[in-house]
Amino acid sequence: MQYADQMRGAIDQAAATPYTTDASYSIGTIPQDTPPLIEGQGVELVRTNCSVCHATTFISSQPPLPGSTWHDEVYKMKEKYGATFISDDSANKIIAYLSAHYTPETHKPGSTSEAPASSAVTAPLAVKPASKPSTATSAAPVASTVDGAKVYAANCASCHGAAGAGVPGAFPPLAGNTAIAGDGKYISDVLLYGLQGKIVAKGQPYNGVMPAWAAQLNDAQIAAVATHVRSTWGNKGSAVRASTVKTERSAPKTAAQILKERPQSDSGTK
Ligand code: HEC
Ligand code: HEC
Repeated sequence: MQYADQMRGAIDQAAATPYTTDASYSIGTIPQDTPPLIEGQGVELVRTNCSVCHATTFISSQPPLPGSTWHDEVYKMKEKYGATFISDDSANKIIAYLSAHYTPETHKPGSTSEAPASSAVTAPLAVKPASKPSTATSAAPVASTVDGAKVYAANCASCHGAAGAGVPGAFPPLAGNTAIAGDGKYISDVLLYGLQGKIVAKGQPYNGVMPAWAAQLNDAQIAAVATHVRSTWGNKGSAVRASTVKTERSAPKTAAQILKERPQSDSGTK
C-alpha cells in the first residue's frame, strides 16, 4: 500500500508563535560538555550498572550531591526505577564511589581524574577552597590547634551526617559507636588508610568503602577530627594525639589488618 500524497501534512500543526520585535527571548545556560566519569575505586560498577538505562552523564553532569542524597538516589533507581539487578553490596560501593567523587566536598568542577595524592601530602593544610561556605577566618594562617569540628564538617559530614548519625546500611553512625573508642590507634588507621569490608555498627551491617585521608589531612587534622568524633554526640572517648597518628602513619596497614584491628566488642548497644 502506498501513502497517498494528500495524506502528508493532513494533521494540522500548531501555528508557530509569531516573532515580535518587542519581546525578548533568552535561554538558560546550556552545559557545554558532558564530562566522563572520574576514575577511582568503584567506577566500573557505576559503568556496568548505571549505564544499563541511561548515560552516566546523568551523574557527571549532575551538580554535586551530599552522600546521603546519593544514597537515596541510587536506592530510588533500585526501588522505583526498576534497577533491581543492582545488589545492595554493589549499590553501597557505588554510593561510596559517588560520595568520594561527586559531593560538594569532593567534587572539583571540571575534574575528570583524581587529584594527584602526592601533591597533597606535603600541603600544610589541605583546606579545600571553593567547597566550603567561606568564613572570615578562612584566609587566616594555619593555627597550631586544628578545629576538629570544622575538619569533620568539611570532610566527613556528607557521609556520616552532621550529627554523626550515619545512614543505615550505607554509612555507619559515629555517634554511640563503641568501636571507635579505645586507644585511638584503630580510628587513626581508619582515617589514614580507609576501611572496607563487613562490619556491624550499632546492630546494623555495613560493607562499604571508607576513603583514606592520609593524603588530604595531616597528623594534627586527623587527631583533631578523631578527637571530635570521640567526644561529641554523647561519645566519651579520650583525645587522640597527633603523635599517635604520626606513629600509625609511619607503619601503613592493609585493609584486612585494619578490619582485624577493629574492636569486635561493639554489641550494637548505645
Ligand atoms: C532500571 C533503569 C535505571 C538504572 C539501572 C539506573 N537508572 Fe538512573 N534513572 C532512571 C530513570 C527512569 C530516570 C529518570 C529519567 C528522567 O527523568 O528522564 C533516572 C534518572 C537518574 C538521575 C537524574 C535525577 C533523577 O532522580 O531523575 C540520576 C542522577 C541517576 N538516574 C543516577 C543513576 C545511578 C547513579 C545509577 C546506578 C546506580 C542509575 N541511575 C541507574 C533509570 C535507571
Ligand atoms: C564517602 C563517604 C565517607 C566519608 C566522606 C567518610 N566516611 Fe567514614 N566511613 C564510610 C564508610 C562506608 C565506612 C564503613 C566501611 C565499611 O563498611 O567497612 C566508614 C567508617 C568509618 C569509621 C569506622 C566506624 C566503625 O564502626 O568501625 C570511622 C571512625 C569513620 N568512618 C570516620 C570518618 C571521618 C572522621 C571522616 C572524615 C575525615 C569520614 N569517616 C569520612 C564512609 C565515609
